[in-house]
Formats: sequence, C-alpha cells, structure tokens
Amino acid sequence: MLNWQHCIALLCMVSACLKPALTIKASFERFEQYFGHEYIDLDLRVRKYNRTEMTLNGTIYVNQAIDETILVSSSICARTNMMAIIFLLNQFSTDVFHSRLGNQQFQHYPLHLPTGDICEFIKHVHEEYALAIVDIVNIPQISECPVTMRAMYVQDKTFPTVILPDSLANGLWKMVITGAINETIVIRYMISIRLNDDFFGI
Ligand SMILES: *[C@@H]1O[C@H](CO)[C@@H](O)[C@H](O)[C@H]1NC(C)=O
Ligand SMILES: *[C@@H]1O[C@H](CO)[C@@H](O)[C@H](O)[C@H]1NC(C)=O
Ligand SMILES: *[C@@H]1O[C@H](CO)[C@@H](O)[C@H](O)[C@H]1NC(C)=O
Repeated sequence: MLNWQHCIALLCMVSACLKPALTIKASFERFEQYFGHEYIDLDLRVRKYNRTEMTLNGTIYVNQAIDETILVSSSICARTNMMAIIFLLNQFSTDVFHSRLGNQQFQHYPLHLPTGDICEFIKHVHEEYALAIVDIVNIPQISECPVTMRAMYVQDKTFPTVILPDSLANGLWKMVITGAINETIVIRYMISIRLNDDFFGI
C-alpha cells in the first residue's frame, strides 16, 4: 500500500534526470482490488501468456449503476533499481518525488490522472488512452454516464507500451486508483507495470 510518510518531495533538475532514449518494454506485473467489489468487481489477473508476454485477463463487473457521485482519483508510485529520479510526461504531474529510503519503498507521485467523477474519468481515458482500452469489450462509450450494470471483458491484454512517455525509468511502477463517495473511499485497486529495456526491439 501507499505509504505517504516515505514520500518526500525533491526538487530535481529535470535535465539531469533524463536517461538516453531506449526502447522500453512494459509488462503487466500485478493487479489487485482491495475493496469496493459491491460497486465494481474487477476480476482481473495478470498471467504469463507465453514466453515473452504477460497479459491482463478477466472480467470487470459493474454491480450497480455508477454515476457522478463517485469521484475517482489515482496516484502513481515507482520502485526502481537505483535511486532513480523519474521524468514524467507533462500530462502527468510535473512534481517529482523521491524516496529517502531508496529502493526499499515505492516513491509516490501525486495525481496523474485528474481527479474527477466517474463520467469525467471515462471521458479522459477515452481521450488520452484510447489505445489502452480499445479492445475492452463492452466498455462504456465516451459520453455514456451513468455507467449501467454490465460485464466488460479484458481478453489477454498486453500492456500498451505505446501510451508511455519516452523517458520513464526502468523498474516497477504502481498505479493506485480510488473511488470515493462523499469523501469516503469506497473502491481501491492497483495495477503494477514493469519497465525493462527491450533488447529485442519490438
Ligand atoms: C507471445 O504472444 C504475443 C501476442 O500474441 C506474440 O506477438 C508473440 O509472438 C508471442 N511470443 C512467443 C514467444 O510465442
Ligand atoms: C480470461 O478471462 C475470461 C473472462 O474474460 C475467462 O473466461 C477466462 O477463463 C480467462 N482465462 C484464463 C486463462 O484465466
Ligand atoms: C452525499 O452527501 C450528500 C450531501 O450531504 C447527500 O445528500 C447524499 O445522500 C450523500 N450520498 C451518499 C451516497 O451518502
């Protein structure tokens, strides 16, 4: 879980943080829903699909209609092989955080997808990450809100590396997404992604 105490802000000369352009390969590492199954049950698993690919597979059940009363926010943490300082896309936050405990802890990055209600969240994902969701069967359309009860199918999806910025550091990245109603968090899940140099050039 996120540990805010271990996240300290650090000003960073961004130019000193850039690593040379390399082909990066991103793979799903883990998916976990902590709670909120009564609203949305994300029955997803990361599995080894073949020798080279990890895929995300399963079903997302919307168990009750979800409307604007649910606010969605997300945060990103990274754990890297070194005391890496990570350069983020400008569509993400430009704040940089760095763990004083080095590689023992996830570093915390403040909100990267804007906080908004679920309708705004879906719209944002459609606009910014269309390639990431194109093959999810039965996903709500861009202006479809409230989201009605349904099952959505995620079928052996490999991570869409194309949505990543160029200069992310290698290592493990974790995104935690929460949904809140009237400031009470009711849904939380996380997805982690591993970034490696791609020596085989995909
Ligand atoms: C693994 O699956 C991916 C996606 O279907 C495919 O492109 C790749 O060639 C496969 N690799 C091996 C070693 O079978
Ligand atoms: C993949 O997910 C589907 C549901 O979308 C499920 O029916 C299937 O059993 C899953 N496959 C594996 C290998 O877990
Ligand atoms: C959220 O707060 C509003 C205003 O206080 C209230 O009307 C509403 O019933 C609350 N919703 C839930 C789900 O508790």
